[in-house]
Amino acid sequence: LADLTAPQILRIVNHAHYLKQVSVPWLAPQSKKSARLRMPSQSLFNKSIALLFAKRSTRTRVSAETAAVLLGGRALFLGREDIQLGVNETPRDTARVIGGMCQGIFARVGAHEEIEELARYSPVPVLNALSSLWHPTQTLADVLTLHEHAHLFDTALKTPPPANKPLPQLRPLTVAYVGDSTNVLHDMLVTYPRLGHKMRVASPEKPAYQCPQPVWDRVTQLGCDKDIWWGSDPKEAVKGADVVVTDTWISMGQEAEKAQRLQDFAGYQVTEALCRDANPDWKFLHCLPRKQEEVDDQVFYGPRSLVFPESDNRKWTIMAAFDLLFGKWDLAGEKTLK
Ligand code: CP
Ligand code: NVA
Repeated sequence: LADLTAPQILRIVNHAHYLKQVSVPWLAPQSKKSARLRMPSQSLFNKSIALLFAKRSTRTRVSAETAAVLLGGRALFLGREDIQLGVNETPRDTARVIGGMCQGIFARVGAHEEIEELARYSPVPVLNALSSLWHPTQTLADVLTLHEHAHLFDTALKTPPPANKPLPQLRPLTVAYVGDSTNVLHDMLVTYPRLGHKMRVASPEKPAYQCPQPVWDRVTQLGCDKDIWWGSDPKEAVKGADVVVTDTWISMGQEAEKAQRLQDFAGYQVTEALCRDANPDWKFLHCLPRKQEEVDDQVFYGPRSLVFPESDNRKWTIMAAFDLLFGKWDLAGEKTLK
């Protein structure tokens, strides 16, 4: 998301809201007159999107496959065991070959450099489905979820947004993140401050849990750092927070470090007690999959938790990104996001 402007990010999120309304008829009952117009764009008709996934996925994969169907196209799931990449073929050659047959690549990779290389050599757009440094489509879903629940943060807005209406504005929020400096956090850091929100982060003091330099460079280039407080005390981080967010302490590929990480993150579990000094109406977000060590059941399954609307919104935001970046690319190129 660091590659997009704030208006471009909001353009995708608002488009996701529109696509959700027109794809789920009971959310926005359609009049007979408007029914033909109010259908999702079929911008992927006769098109194929390659899902190049080197890691596991439930939400991102299912979102992508089902969204492609609604846009009139198809997605090809290409897992690590399925294709030649990484065994018999380089990312450069793979990008050129797949890009010659498909109209977009949605890639989940290990090291971030791998997706940079795919993007460099692909003749079609490449969208990040998660890398070591970034998880942009997760933040898109989180922003949509917060806008849909704007009434929970603002007493002037008494009800959820009515169907057929644009998304409501969000009042400036304080978003706290406690846990590891993961790909999920990094996209939050380059997004929330540009949308007018403040961030408060706590991660353990060890260098391994601090923000990687390439990410912090983007944060400062975008001027986001002035709205970010970063410390190591989770209680301090959640002070005054409207939203509390965490992610797993053991990301995919870090399984061997589990014992050490459980020790280092002691005291970081999100609970009612930890968040005593947050805004009394604080809400909870988590990208999932969730483990109990980072958030207890009371919070995760309780009324503060927006985690399942958040996971539903993975689909609509990925659909919006596919429509604008893949579906309409050859019609208007990058201009579809302006
Ligand atoms: N949140 C998320 O990316 O989930 P998956 O790994 O299941 O896709
Ligand atoms: N930080 C986690 C996110 C999973 C969606 C990981 O990279 O495994």
